[in-house]
Amino acid sequence: MLDNPSLLLARSFDLDGGDALASHQNILVANFSEDKYCLTLANSFDDKQFTAFTHNFAAFQSLKNAPDNLNVVCNHQFETKSGSGSKAEFDCVVIYFPKSKAEFEFLINNLFNHVKADAPIYVVGDNKGGVKTCEKMLKTFCSISKKVDAAKHCALYLTTLIEPSKPFVFEDWYKNYPIEINGVELTVYTLPGVFSHGELDMGTRLLLENIQKTKANILDFGCGAGLIGAYLSKTDENVTVTGLDVSALAIESTRKTYQANGVDGKVLLSNGLSEVKATYDQVYSNPPFHSGVKTNYAITELFLNTVKEYICPRGSLTLVANSFLKYQPLLEKHFGRFDTLSKNRRFNVYHATKGRK
Ligand SMILES: C[S@@+](CC[C@H](N)C(=O)[O-])C[C@H]1O[C@@H](n2cnc3c(N)ncnc32)[C@H](O)[C@@H]1O
Repeated sequence: MLDNPSLLLARSFDLDGGDALASHQNILVANFSEDKYCLTLANSFDDKQFTAFTHNFAAFQSLKNAPDNLNVVCNHQFETKSGSGSKAEFDCVVIYFPKSKAEFEFLINNLFNHVKADAPIYVVGDNKGGVKTCEKMLKTFCSISKKVDAAKHCALYLTTLIEPSKPFVFEDWYKNYPIEINGVELTVYTLPGVFSHGELDMGTRLLLENIQKTKANILDFGCGAGLIGAYLSKTDENVTVTGLDVSALAIESTRKTYQANGVDGKVLLSNGLSEVKATYDQVYSNPPFHSGVKTNYAITELFLNTVKEYICPRGSLTLVANSFLKYQPLLEKHFGRFDTLSKNRRFNVYHATKGRK
């Protein structure tokens, strides 16, 4: 089933006989949704070449078995074969508005290097997700945007690229900030769209303040900017950390946070535990309950239902969660007993050991 932004696009691209795309050959679809609408587009217009670009590994996985005219790319930045420098090639762009304005700005500055002048730019998104702000943000590069359709709480904007963006310098998009917990000082690096972009989350702080004993081999599930792994590594030089996240922007932020703090950690781009091949002595997490702007409990429920397989005997899981989230029954089901290490008005920190009855 298509989600609402895709339904709006389908109405513009398909129902009018495909006129909107008729004169375009090389079409870029960015930040596409997981509903497989890109497959429909590529199959319906098989004389055209599509590139679907995402920062999100779950979206990337959703387009397995793409036809030959659909190239699917998941990375922290869009690059052509000749590198990230300017080489205009696309003559039409469709962007699903991301969950933050900062990520949209980052995305257009990156993508517009690869787009021909006069190319139409479509931006679609949820009104609640702030799609309207695209009008203002596109002004730097484009003609005045028009709202060409609206339905189901979503809007579709159309504009034309006038000015390709300045050469894109990826490193310039990092923000960094210092944190200090239990006497450990770190500098955290985040890219736009990454959780805790610009400031430490209070749930993560509570988790870190209550970490007791670390063991050798640690997984930080949903690592964001990598600060849990970096902190653990700083408190015990014998630990090896792996930061896992579904977002390529988070993975790149984690890599940078590890590097800047002298942490020799690994990173893993994965949808839930889909790419995990190892087992760990300890798993730590401030797990997600959102996909983009939407609430999504399924990711963490699946994680809690399967994580035990990836924990060594006598190993443990420590997580922080908003107190309204009902993870206790799942912890009880899979681990038998668990402890609440700490709680405040908003968050609880849970700890469960494998093999403890
Ligand atoms: C609440 S944030 C925590 C980030 C970081 N650990 C911190 O404490 O600042 C949850 C993280 O889970 C990631 N995430 C969301 N869906 C995921 C999935 N399906 N698989 C892995 N990670 C996911 C998000 O990208 C985000 O970085």
